[in-house]
Amino acid sequence: MIHARIVGTGSHLPGDPVTNDDLVRRGIDTSDEWITTRTGIRARHFAEPGSRTSELALIAARQAIEAADCAADDIDLIIVATSTPDFIFPSTATLVQAGLGIKNNCAAFDVQAVCSGFVYALATAEKFIRSGSHRRALVIGTEVFSNILDWADRSTCVLFGDGAGAVVLEATDEPGVRAVALHADGRLHPELWVPGNVVGGQVKGDPFLRMNGQTVFKFAVRVLDEVAQEVAALANVPQDSIDWLVPHQANIRIIQSTAKRLGLSMEKVVTTVDIHGNTSAASIPLALDCAIRDGRIRPGHRIVVEGIGGGFTWGAALIDF
Ligand code: UT7
Repeated sequence: MIHARIVGTGSHLPGDPVTNDDLVRRGIDTSDEWITTRTGIRARHFAEPGSRTSELALIAARQAIEAADCAADDIDLIIVATSTPDFIFPSTATLVQAGLGIKNNCAAFDVQAVCSGFVYALATAEKFIRSGSHRRALVIGTEVFSNILDWADRSTCVLFGDGAGAVVLEATDEPGVRAVALHADGRLHPELWVPGNVVGGQVKGDPFLRMNGQTVFKFAVRVLDEVAQEVAALANVPQDSIDWLVPHQANIRIIQSTAKRLGLSMEKVVTTVDIHGNTSAASIPLALDCAIRDGRIRPGHRIVVEGIGGGFTWGAALIDF
């Protein structure tokens, strides 16, 4: 039987950290006290204006390929999760493919599931590998969310940041990704969205991220422990065998509530929201790469990754690393 295992990770954060006080200095009507208390965020990174999402992705991808000890040409599938693609088309995945110089037999496409995007992309790549059609997938979450932030809307602009994270998933005969669960409820799309679009050469509607924070918060707290339990049940493993929870990094209060409902100590939860903010599809692979590189997550550990985002979409994967 073919399984899909993570064999390398990488990540990239552009520029220097921008603290909450830096945002106040830039004229945003907020305070370090409000942001820290409500969200746990102390800093985030922003790409230079005009930066492209694929540029961040490429740096993370090169690191992941190096960590996987393979060559770019060994990659036969690239899936990029992003809500801030370089262009309407082509996909950001094809731009990453070009940047890596991969010429042969490589499929490349994007998935759009906002902050759950990395989980959706990982689940998709895992199925390609398990089917036997592909052997080595590069799965990337990458965002330049600063491109869609309204700096006059303090209820959203202080929450998000830019970054990219990548994993290489390889066909093996040992279990790696053991179970995935994906969900969506499109009726809730106006609770977190960018309502505008480009039509006839003009931006029609509002081009900025809009969110009803309290609705998202309540929904996240309800579904994130359920979906973690769901993947443990699907994988037929006890919940207390989970070594690490690597959740989407939106708000420390959501993360703490999920851990509590799962009976997991915060010692077993990877948190980067304090230093990265919410980087949407990039947040899980960024957190994963941090915890692997600093030695917390080690070979043999069992991980649950999970996220929720616009759509709404949500999902989780249980992975033996
Ligand atoms: O990645 C996708 C998932 N997204 C999320 O998970 C986000 C989920 N939601 C949240 O994290 C929280 O709902 C927020 C952090 C966005 C907001 O926290 P909250 O406790 O729900 O605050 P609120 O929206 O109820 O706002 C409370 C007050 C309001 O003032 P009044 O009306 O009580 O006077 C806001 O105007 O806080 C005010 N406020 C701010 N004050 C200072 C809103 N944003 C700010 C700000 N600085 N940046």
